[in-house]
Amino acid sequence: MPDLFSPFKLKDITLRNRIAMSPMTQHRATDGHINDFHIMLAGSRAAGGFGLVFPEQIAITPDGRTSISCAGIWDNAHIDGLARLAKLVKDMGAVPAIQLGHTGRKGSECPPWEGRRQLPPDDPRGWAVRGPSDVPYGGVRPYSVHPLSVDEIHELHRAYADAARRALDAGFEWLELHFAHGYLGASFLSPLANHRTDAYGGSLENRLRFHLEALDAVRAVWPERLPLTMRLGSDDLNPAGLQFDDSVAAVAMMKLRGLDLADLSWGFNTDDMEPKPFAELAAMVSRAERVRREVGIPVATSWNLGVPAIADSVVREGAVDIVMLGRPALSNPHWPLWAARELAHPDPWSLVPEDWAWWLRNLRAHPDCIGWPKPAHEAADERQTR
Ligand SMILES: Cc1cc2nc3c(=O)[nH]c(=O)nc-3n(C[C@H](O)[C@H](O)[C@H](O)COP(=O)(O)O)c2cc1C
Repeated sequence: MPDLFSPFKLKDITLRNRIAMSPMTQHRATDGHINDFHIMLAGSRAAGGFGLVFPEQIAITPDGRTSISCAGIWDNAHIDGLARLAKLVKDMGAVPAIQLGHTGRKGSECPPWEGRRQLPPDDPRGWAVRGPSDVPYGGVRPYSVHPLSVDEIHELHRAYADAARRALDAGFEWLELHFAHGYLGASFLSPLANHRTDAYGGSLENRLRFHLEALDAVRAVWPERLPLTMRLGSDDLNPAGLQFDDSVAAVAMMKLRGLDLADLSWGFNTDDMEPKPFAELAAMVSRAERVRREVGIPVATSWNLGVPAIADSVVREGAVDIVMLGRPALSNPHWPLWAARELAHPDPWSLVPEDWAWWLRNLRAHPDCIGWPKPAHEAADERQTR
């Protein structure tokens, strides 16, 4: 039975464990170019023991960014920086992964610490946003949405393919399409955002056409030996929105079109979801487990899995193949090493680079003085023996 530290093989790629740093947008790029900060963030988590490491969502077009300071891959000039990041992640023993995305009608924002708001199209940092229909995000944002023509949809699919080719050139070995969180893919699938009456709207099959054609376009350039995955907005938590049953059927259709793994997340197509899932422990796990069981496809998920015992149990129970950590990976670059100690792994140091492991094994420091708290199980044993 696999646990959190068991290797995981998908196509020709083997992760050293089941722990991934989930993509996290940082609003620190310039003209789409990543910099030393992004490379530090990814490289340090790879050195900290994560098996799969994503930088933030990488936009396929300039208007696919969340803010003007988000990273992109719409130009060959973006390849060099991303290649440095991918190489460092790989040198540290993790698999470099890339999440390609387009924010659709949710783009043109300012960084969240300036207030979560959309900027008008004529703002120097803003742009006119595009989506499946002319419905603004949540039905409440003040700026109009340009409804994509069929030609523009095809152009976007070509942009996904061009981005995938650049990602391959940059050395990434795992590709995820970001079709969750209210972004372009998620809004095509959601009846809240997609009011189209053509082949891309209406029935589930039609609303999923955007996804299926994107998979086809990307697979044409992304080698069969490398994983092609999708973060799917699978539940709008809204009675008028996308229902999870439809997402199970959608993943089954995408599996037939070459999807290798489903990373389940929320639709986030409005702000008024109920219940709000932000603080619930293991909030997405039962849904991920259902997709894994009913569709027979490997699954990943995030959302409050940062307690080591919970992360380990969802893998052991066969609910989830990969645990995606967002906020825990921000707060602790060595989360896997810490979790290994918490879970009484026989050799926690095996999770860090070999030279660090040598120093840490051989310098015989006092065990309480190496910069991490005593594991919960040891602290409990100590209390009992007092
Ligand atoms: C700062 C920040 C930025 C994020 N940016 C992205 C992103 O670019 N792409 C994405 O799919 N999810 C993004 N997320 C969501 C995370 O990947 C993750 O799914 C979420 O934080 C839940 O996992 P957690 O409970 O481990 O934090 C972001 C989350 C945070 C905290």
